[in-house]
Amino acid sequence: MTIKLALAGVGNCASVLVQGLKFYSGDERKGLWHPNVAGFKPRDMQVVAAFDIDARKVGFDLSKAVFAPPNVAKKYVSMPKSKVTVKSGLSRGDLAPHLRGVRLEKTSLDDVSKSLEESGADILVNAISSGSGSSTEEYARAALRAGCGFINCTPSLSLKSNKLVADFQRAKLPLVGDDLMSQFGGTIFHKGLLGLMVKRGIKVAKSYQLDVGGGSETLNTIDEGIKMAKREMKTSSVAEEVPYKFETIAGTTDYVDYMGNDRTSYFWFQGSTFMESGVTVDVYLRSSDGANAGNVLFDVVRATYKCMKVGKLGTVGEICAYGFKSPPKPMRFEDAFTKFSALYVR
Ligand SMILES: NC(=O)c1ccc[n+]([C@@H]2O[C@H](COP(=O)([O-])OP(=O)(O)OC[C@H]3O[C@@H](n4cnc5c(N)ncnc54)[C@H](O)[C@@H]3O)[C@@H](O)[C@H]2O)c1
Repeated sequence: MTIKLALAGVGNCASVLVQGLKFYSGDERKGLWHPNVAGFKPRDMQVVAAFDIDARKVGFDLSKAVFAPPNVAKKYVSMPKSKVTVKSGLSRGDLAPHLRGVRLEKTSLDDVSKSLEESGADILVNAISSGSGSSTEEYARAALRAGCGFINCTPSLSLKSNKLVADFQRAKLPLVGDDLMSQFGGTIFHKGLLGLMVKRGIKVAKSYQLDVGGGSETLNTIDEGIKMAKREMKTSSVAEEVPYKFETIAGTTDYVDYMGNDRTSYFWFQGSTFMESGVTVDVYLRSSDGANAGNVLFDVVRATYKCMKVGKLGTVGEICAYGFKSPPKPMRFEDAFTKFSALYVR
């Protein structure tokens, strides 16, 4: 059985997903977190449709588009022609800052939904730019109309109160998100260290995480409005690990073009222990954004498809909490991981 995927947004995240599908199309297991999720191997996933609005990508074969500017994700493998041509996507006037002044190719929700149907896609993976909330919602509507499940990698859609959730439930389709949590990026690293401090009886007082990176996603997230929205999501995800109030901030602070798809996250933690003696941690993490999304996306796609097949519909709590920073029901990561592993990892 093949899991047929459609991609909204052919950026760095999509580039690494597409390259990963080629890399793991045989028996290669190096770097793979979970070879078997819900009975599926990576080679059971296939991209059958892709959408973007950047004219540098639209109309090109997916194998070419994933390396087109402004993408900066590393070329890990040579891509053979995919036979998937990137189609025009939809946009609802919430254009990402990095696309201002760029030639755009846009179409309607009807067209996107029709293309999805024709492609036979099971799931639409939404990896468009941060800050494009109305467009994200329209992609979810297009998926709904075409009978596809929806995975929201962006920080834009709220599954907490959205009417969409009810509509997906009614249509018997899964909807998971929001804001993908990288395998070993700033958020999970921050959460992990806080969890360790709590477990070791340290009273956490303050922490921060300041991210600097390259790539269009970082460029978009230094735009003031997007920056604050994304910061709020990251910060509340991090705060979930500590069972009392403390001061914390987590977010992107700057863009350095020559960092490419890489990111450096600077962390600082302050707490106290025995007789109020102080503990301070200063540490930094260097990671690569796109690659950091690969394993988590592989996992959530396979688990979401399984839910689709067994009729587990609407927002699927354990998938959202395992793979995303802003799930409808927040959970400590260790609990989410245990639950996800028990249900899906073979
Ligand atoms: N590790 C990760 O890569 C990671 C982690 C967490 C969240 N995310 C989220 O995933 C999304 C994608 O990240 P990325 O690094 O690939 O970003 P990116 O900037 O490299 O790519 C975004 C792509 O979406 C396209 N796009 C913008 N608006 C569109 C629209 N309306 N329709 C179709 N295409 C559109 C852009 O042209 C671009 O190709 C972001 O929202 C990001 O916050 C990624």
